[in-house]
Amino acid sequence: MLHPRIIVAKDPEAVGKAAADQFEAVIAKKPAAVIGLATGSTPLPLYRELIAREKAGKIDFTKVRSANLDEYKGLAPDHEQSYRKFMQDNLFDHISIKPENTIVPLGLAEDVDAMCAAYEEKIEEWGGVDLQLLGIGHDGHIGFNEPDDHFPAMTHEVKLTEMTIEANKRFFNSADEVPRAAFTMGIGTIMAARKIVMVVTGKDKRDILKKTFWGPVDPQVPASILQFHPDVTLVCDEDAYPFN
Ligand code: F6R
Repeated sequence: MLHPRIIVAKDPEAVGKAAADQFEAVIAKKPAAVIGLATGSTPLPLYRELIAREKAGKIDFTKVRSANLDEYKGLAPDHEQSYRKFMQDNLFDHISIKPENTIVPLGLAEDVDAMCAAYEEKIEEWGGVDLQLLGIGHDGHIGFNEPDDHFPAMTHEVKLTEMTIEANKRFFNSADEVPRAAFTMGIGTIMAARKIVMVVTGKDKRDILKKTFWGPVDPQVPASILQFHPDVTLVCDEDAYPFN
């Protein structure tokens, strides 16, 4: 088993800064780096920090390409709760990244298999992901890869679990409005990234974090596969670190 490099930061803001250091280093070395991005609450301090660092001249996103992990099935790109809209509002609209250099799975895809295959092909055409950002769900999901009896390989459609629908309903008017399906990079897509940074904050993530890196590798805890990745940096706050 490989273990992650671990940075325990004081609070969510400090997690954002420590994760931003990783992005700054990768983009400084490779201005056209391909970065894999996540939505959710945990990356928000990181995105604020990336915006601030570009304004301060420390990072330049003009050549960077980005591929997001996932998107709700059935939501248009401009839907208030779509992940494309989340990325525009929280990052892309505030940095110099070119719109054509950002990809998010298409929520309205009619031919799902073709859209998923094209997504994989685009990442491959770009030369693969240099730095993949991950959050983690309370059930150990990464992207929308939920607990399962196997690790799904490539970008695919998933049905959301009740736990995830429950966790995500805070962004909708009610649980009924949360889409029941989504598109997500597969575990294979994620594992193919050259470098992975996982951000985790809050006491409520402590148990799943312990299972992920200090428990058995098991598709019932999808993130546990990261124990087999050679370059994972876990950036968590003091509340989430299981051994505090
Ligand atoms: C979102 C994603 C999800 C989230 C996870 C944690 O693109 O990939 O796996 O990272 O649900 O979400 P937060 O950060 O809101 O707790």
